[in-house]
Amino acid sequence: MRIIEQPELPRVQAGEIPRHIGAIMDGNGRWALMRETERTEGHRAAEEAVYSSVRGALNLGVEWLSLYAFSTENWRRNDSEIAFLMDFSEWLLHEERVEELRELGVRIRFVGRLDDERIPDRSRAYLNDISARTAHNTRLQLVIAFNYGGRAEIIDAVRSLLADGVEPETVTEADLEARLYLPEMPDVDLVVRTSAEHRLSNFLLWQASYAEFVFTETLWPDFRAWHLYSAVAEYQSRRRRMGAAVTG
Ligand code: IPE
Ligand code: IPE
Ligand code: MG
Repeated sequence: MRIIEQPELPRVQAGEIPRHIGAIMDGNGRWALMRETERTEGHRAAEEAVYSSVRGALNLGVEWLSLYAFSTENWRRNDSEIAFLMDFSEWLLHEERVEELRELGVRIRFVGRLDDERIPDRSRAYLNDISARTAHNTRLQLVIAFNYGGRAEIIDAVRSLLADGVEPETVTEADLEARLYLPEMPDVDLVVRTSAEHRLSNFLLWQASYAEFVFTETLWPDFRAWHLYSAVAEYQSRRRRMGAAVTG
């Protein structure tokens, strides 16, 4: 991914802006390893990247920004790292940051299996509190995928259809979408993954069906608004056909 220069920014802003960007925030551990410090320090450093990305998204007029914070597979990590990742007041969304985001018009929401008993009550209460405090905001929907798995989300939607006794032969894509964690969430237009890994790792499987993918070697703690602008510039150079034939 080529980093765009400052004079190029107006051109990006004038182009087609993805309505929904998803970011797979990867590489915190390697960032810490390079500094010979604890993995949790890498997670701690992730917040600056989140905040800069939010500013970038606001500047571009992106409506939805979804960030992958903890997958249903991340329970495989050791206890101390998991305990740290559970506590958003320690890493991704410190109290002061939440206040700044609230003032910027950002609504913070969570998707994932939030009722999982492995999530400490204190963490759940914090998430509920910051969601409620920003619930009136409409400028940018900042979605944090937490204890999230794309497969789990689809399974949960299917279970909800079955629980209501919906007739199998009547089920449409719209019916299933209506049972996803945030039914109003639009499809993801652009997925960005940092740290040179080229995979989806169970992120927004349903919503990313026709997403464009941009991969960067930058580790998440080093990711800034400029990287987001560059990813959007790359997105603008793609031709999204959605199954239609190539023309011209
Ligand atoms: C962040 O990066 C992803 C989270 C689960 C928070 P990692 O912790 O996966 O970092 P690497 O891949 O080990 O470098
Ligand atoms: C994906 O990163 C999950 C998050 C960013 C939260 P991982 O580091 O867990 O993914 P894998 O294991 O490399 O696929
Ligand atoms: Mg990783």
